[in-house]
Amino acid sequence: MGTRRDFLRLTALAGTSAIASPLIANPKTENKPIVISTWDHGVVANTVSWDILKKNGTALDAVEQGVRVVEADPRGTTVGVGGSPDRDGYVTLDACIMNHKNQCGSVAFLQNIEHPISVARKVMEETPHVMLVGEGAYQFAREQGFERKELLTEKSKEAWERWLQSSEYKPVVNIENHDTIASLALDSQGNLSGACTTSGMAYKMHGRVGDSPIIGAGLFVDNEVGAACGTGVGEAIIRTAGSAIIVEMMRAGMSPQDACKAAIERIIEKHDDVSNLQVGYLALNKEGEYGGYSVLKGFTYAVRSSEVDEYLNSDYSL
Ligand code: GLY
Repeated sequence: MGTRRDFLRLTALAGTSAIASPLIANPKTENKPIVISTWDHGVVANTVSWDILKKNGTALDAVEQGVRVVEADPRGTTVGVGGSPDRDGYVTLDACIMNHKNQCGSVAFLQNIEHPISVARKVMEETPHVMLVGEGAYQFAREQGFERKELLTEKSKEAWERWLQSSEYKPVVNIENHDTIASLALDSQGNLSGACTTSGMAYKMHGRVGDSPIIGAGLFVDNEVGAACGTGVGEAIIRTAGSAIIVEMMRAGMSPQDACKAAIERIIEKHDDVSNLQVGYLALNKEGEYGGYSVLKGFTYAVRSSEVDEYLNSDYSL
């Protein structure tokens, strides 16, 4: 059982005053504002979010603006532009956002729009609904002024064409699962928000939707308690209502770290074979304490506050 919480220093962070992470914040010194985000692309997302948070901006703006940078980066094959297509060659995007008032918005199976996270925010703020999918989500985005964009890059197209030669759906742990950019923030007002956005599992069935746009699965925020988000095989996260149960376990008194671990153990209990099933969770509570945990080795996340600028390997079960 590997539970060592390794510390990685990114060269990008060289020169910053990274210190051991405060899993347990000192109750006398509130650990806010703070932002935590999944995977290595979480480092750049946090940089953008931190610029907003340190100027007393809102957690909602911070998480939205942070993940937008990752959506726009064509080098990433798991989010937004450059995302791997489904088995039929279509890039289909899922995203959701949730604020401190339990308001939330979501889009799924959205094509040809660069920033699904901002469409999700518009669903939250401009409609009576929570979720729009497919053509309806696209029409709404266009009405809201989002431009049509081709998201399939030459690199992603070539990789898909190579994949077509075997057409075997066999996601590679920590590579094709290295998917969602999910971000949780606590702002200087003490309010929590979260965002997550992905192109989903590479070469999924056309029409497949993962956990990332499902409130309570890929993301959940309760401003009285804390927030949680997930990454990895979305089906396993949906089956166990991952982010919602983490928040409920924090409500019952667990630390973010213990709650993430318990939710991962639930996945392991409910699946016959998790040897190729990676899921990672992050959680952040009202005090600014945070944690991360995954099924398998290899899940990483980034943390940014006035005291911490870190890129970490999460603890894991197997
Ligand atoms: N976690 C992203 C997905 O399964 O689509």
